[in-house]
Amino acid sequence: MKDPVRIAITGGAGQISYSLIFRIAAGDMLGPDQPVILQLLEIPQAMEALNGVVMEINDCAFPLVRDIVATDDPNVAFKDIDYGLLVGSKPRGPGMERKDLLEANAAIFSVQGKALNDHASRDVKVLVVGNPANTNALIASCNAPDLDAGQFTAMTRLDHNRAMTQLAQKTGRHVNDVESLIVWGNHSATQYPDISQCRVDGKPALELVERDWYESDFIPTVQQRGAAIIKARGASSAASAAAAAIDHMHDWALGSDGIVSMSIPADGSYGIEEGIIYSYPVRCKGGSYEIVQGFEIDAFSREKMQATENELREERAAVEHLLG
Ligand code: NAI
Repeated sequence: MKDPVRIAITGGAGQISYSLIFRIAAGDMLGPDQPVILQLLEIPQAMEALNGVVMEINDCAFPLVRDIVATDDPNVAFKDIDYGLLVGSKPRGPGMERKDLLEANAAIFSVQGKALNDHASRDVKVLVVGNPANTNALIASCNAPDLDAGQFTAMTRLDHNRAMTQLAQKTGRHVNDVESLIVWGNHSATQYPDISQCRVDGKPALELVERDWYESDFIPTVQQRGAAIIKARGASSAASAAAAAIDHMHDWALGSDGIVSMSIPADGSYGIEEGIIYSYPVRCKGGSYEIVQGFEIDAFSREKMQATENELREERAAVEHLLG
């Protein structure tokens, strides 16, 4: 057996964590031979609920779980962690403007960025799930100057997985047959799920579906899927978000099969401005990721990629004063 790794999960008493923690504990993220120490963070008002979650983890008698820390102090939760899954965030309250939401979360993620900077392992891999995820990741990263910006990522894997299934179902194939699907940009309704590079069972996707379905059905369905789940379930996506977080971290740590979408610091690739966290096509290998270069971008894609880039720039401008 390997030495245990330390994994922090914030928002430990929330809906996503109620699925995520148990799957990590079962070995779904890092494999069946990787023991884990779970370091769970909550706000003081939710500590009792978090203690209930800890009781349930204990009651599972997971062979891989070596220890559990439950705390409301980010400096304790992030101590020596190898992986940080930042799920907890402040939800939009009644009458709250987008700017207020950005600011409320900016306050949380600047504190957590500093705590990561001061206490996490120097090789920590951070995934921000809590919304607005891309800009929250940017704030955490800017407040962690001793860590590399590339260690901070945000989750667009749920959008990627949603898009994979929509396309597989439309073409009557399985998700395993879909290659090179890309989600560009922000985890929001401006994201651009792009099938122009995609192959299904080896054939170009755009030769298998009508253009009108792609533009008027597929793209909005993927962009609005979160709202559709809330309408149907009366609660937001939780198990599928947890599954996507597992996929993101699994692939980053252990390698991906083909191309996946990850929100990472833009480096100018594909003409996207540096200084925002933007979803790109990446390949993961040996514990790191690399942007897949060389796709030809047509005018339709360019416009969509820029629209979501503009939204991320506006979000950044709204929290500029908190960027450290
Ligand atoms: P939830 O409301 O059930 O749980 C959030 C938990 O975070 C709560 O227990 C709350 O007490 C805790 N929390 C709040 N502030 C915190 C802080 N400063 N430190 C530690 N914990 C804190 O929400 P749920 O359903 O688990 O979703 C969590 C977040 O994930 C939301 O922001 C949601 O919008 C986002 N999300 C992101 C997705 C993505 O694809 N990137 C997909 C689905 C949800």
